[in-house]
Amino acid sequence: MSTKERVLELLKKNSGSHLSGEQIAELLGISRTAVWKAVKQLRTEGYDINAQTNRGYVIGQKTDILTLSGIKQHLDSSLSIPEIKLLDKVDSTNNYLKQSVVPEKEKDGFIVIAGEQTEGRGRFGRRFYSPSGSGIYMSLLLRPEGCTIQKSVKYTTMAAAAVCVALEGLTEYRPGIKWVNDIYINGRKVCGILTEGSADLESGFLDHAVLGIGLNVYEPENGFPEEIEGIAGGVFHTRKTDMKNRIVSGILNSFYSLYSNDKDYADKYRQRSMILGKTVNMSFGGKTKQIRVIDIDDDCALIAMDENGKKHRYTGGEVSISREDII
Ligand code: BTN
Repeated sequence: MSTKERVLELLKKNSGSHLSGEQIAELLGISRTAVWKAVKQLRTEGYDINAQTNRGYVIGQKTDILTLSGIKQHLDSSLSIPEIKLLDKVDSTNNYLKQSVVPEKEKDGFIVIAGEQTEGRGRFGRRFYSPSGSGIYMSLLLRPEGCTIQKSVKYTTMAAAAVCVALEGLTEYRPGIKWVNDIYINGRKVCGILTEGSADLESGFLDHAVLGIGLNVYEPENGFPEEIEGIAGGVFHTRKTDMKNRIVSGILNSFYSLYSNDKDYADKYRQRSMILGKTVNMSFGGKTKQIRVIDIDDDCALIAMDENGKKHRYTGGEVSISREDII
């Protein structure tokens, strides 16, 4: 057991009463600096540890840690939700599935969730900042039957709708979706989705999809990196008790319900779109042009009109919107 785990165990055992740094150090046979370092690390991970002068440390009520039992407690048992694996830290949950689970052909579904990613990836090869304690990083392995590559964008949109529905159920916020995969709250991107997959080129059908969801539940302790400062945000400003487990199960309940019914997702997606009826910039194939979004079709492709009145249908590309249109 690591020093951090031993400190945590001791604090849990003494829950409700304070223990000074000196007492902890003595009981565990470690230095006071080691106690201080362990407490700092535990706080970063989401443990609520209060410190009071002359009294010491006590474990508080607002602990928000991902646990398998905590997630399972809120899952809808009427849905067929696959096996879940929880990791403290991984390079990327999408990589984990691709390397360790996709090759196991008998696994037709699997979920991996991590508290930290060292090489979290976003769309277009960008990095997805995934520090410990502040976010939820998860990937779902899907092996849908009879889905063509062209229609596979629907899993990204299903996930976006599912994240919004889950957050609406747990908060007072009304998140908005920027096509195709970004979720905004109060003007900040709080969630991104990256779907990777492979298809049988002869039949054109999807073999599997790895659906990665990254959600910033809180602002990271040391803020966001400079390149996304002012763009990225956390859902909450203050820590909430057992929120991450409830968000994960909310997303899974909502996603697997949309996935099994396979038709309600487009409406749910359109209702939350931030760009329907708006003029936006679309970057596609190395070119950027202004388009007016007139619809999002049932496959969640973007239907838009360019400056010359020509209609287009986009299944890829990146949309950027003006600050006023960001909700
Ligand atoms: C984006 O904003 O462009 C998409 C971000 C997707 C991030 C998630 S976090 C879980 C999964 N693992 C990754 O490496 N990326 C996705």
